[in-house]
Amino acid sequence: MKVGVIGTGYVGLIQAVGLASFNHEVIGVDIDTSKIEKLKRGISPLHEEGLEEVLKKHVNKNLIFSADYNLLKNTDVIFLCVGTPQDKDGKANLSFLFDAAENLKRVLDKKEEYIIVTKSTVPVGTNRKLKEIFKGFNVKVVSNPEFLREGKALYDFYNPDRIVLGFENEKDEKLKDILVNSIYKPFKEKNVPFVITNLETAELIKYASNAFLATKISFINEIAKLCDKVNANVKKVAEGMGLDPRIGKAFLNAGIGWGGSCFPKDVKALIKQFEENNIEPILIKATDIVNEKQLEYFLEKIENYYKDLKERTFAVLGLAFKPNTDDLRESRGIKLIEKLIEKKVKVKGFDYVEKARENARSYFSLKENLIYGYNVVILDDLYETVKKVDGIIITVEDDKFNSENWQKIASLVKEKVIFDGRNILNKENIESLGFKYFGVGI
Ligand code: UGA
Repeated sequence: MKVGVIGTGYVGLIQAVGLASFNHEVIGVDIDTSKIEKLKRGISPLHEEGLEEVLKKHVNKNLIFSADYNLLKNTDVIFLCVGTPQDKDGKANLSFLFDAAENLKRVLDKKEEYIIVTKSTVPVGTNRKLKEIFKGFNVKVVSNPEFLREGKALYDFYNPDRIVLGFENEKDEKLKDILVNSIYKPFKEKNVPFVITNLETAELIKYASNAFLATKISFINEIAKLCDKVNANVKKVAEGMGLDPRIGKAFLNAGIGWGGSCFPKDVKALIKQFEENNIEPILIKATDIVNEKQLEYFLEKIENYYKDLKERTFAVLGLAFKPNTDDLRESRGIKLIEKLIEKKVKVKGFDYVEKARENARSYFSLKENLIYGYNVVILDDLYETVKKVDGIIITVEDDKFNSENWQKIASLVKEKVIFDGRNILNKENIESLGFKYFGVGI
């Protein structure tokens, strides 16, 4: 089929590349011309495993990138994949989405039939508003929320747990046929479950899923605090809980809380949707509060150990919000560095992902006029990073830390202390090397 994708960020680029690999004719449109130029040359602006390979295979063949909306005129299905970042008041900012819709309106042919599918995460009711924008056009609006994880985005595209489709009319068999049997045919063949519902339900499935996962993490983080007090081990608590299939073991890893471009903004946007409907979001608000307090709790652990943090130097291992990504948005590591700096601490930062280090360098140098630039240095080598530090702080759950030479690290640091904000290291091994080890709830 002839498919258009508006927006070439995480969601849009993966969608464009993925659908091209299903042999659809795909046009990816973005107003960011520098991104388009890169994509035309087969260069991925995102750090995402395997993406560039598939991109190179299809680009300039059945996958075209352009900044020109006119090319979308001859497509059948158009996916809206622009960002919906958090606004000042916590609401989702829909200006990119509505701008894209207005741009699209200018080029679509009133006599032709189009299907416009929203993949961006949008508050309940947004797709109905889109329908209003396209009044007078022969347009069907569909909500098709995205569930991919950064760092594993391409894998998640090819291996979805479910495909959610919200229709204006749930009984629209023609629409169902196009999306299920044509656009997403390979998923139908793999027996991926399709959830077909109305627009509002589909929109809410996305928010409810992210808020539930965030709640699972906040729940175990709260339990971890009690574990610290009563000599229990939160890893074992999570294991014991997770073996119950009604609970499941995923997203029960305690630590310094959730970050990223999705959970923080989506939890806040869901809270707003409750408030706008005059319902108190008791549980979801608590999920958010627990997350904010978790970082303070971890910082207190560090302060309690050293008493005075002033003039100390720490190695912070982990700059992005999680492993295998260069994304610093709402990164707990970055937030922690900022809090440490306020306490007159010097920080040596490291991340396994080169682009994450680059992003952190520009993030902190942008703040050079403030205190940041002078107190943070981002290094390319882990062993250089830990040299002569008063303590090591781990902020991402990267298993690669376990393959490092901790004997060598022990010989490089000034003081053998580790604050493992992700409970990722093997405590016994680390302690056997003479380190003092502090995790979260273990
Ligand atoms: C999340 C969801 O997992 C995806 O399903 C969803 O599509 C995506 O948001 C989105 O809305 O676009 P992502 O933000 O890429 O994906 O990251 P996750 O892997 O979910 O991790 C989020 C945060 O939770 C990270 O900071 C991670 O360190 C933290 N986390 C995760 C924990 O603290 N404990 C856990 O057990 C799991």
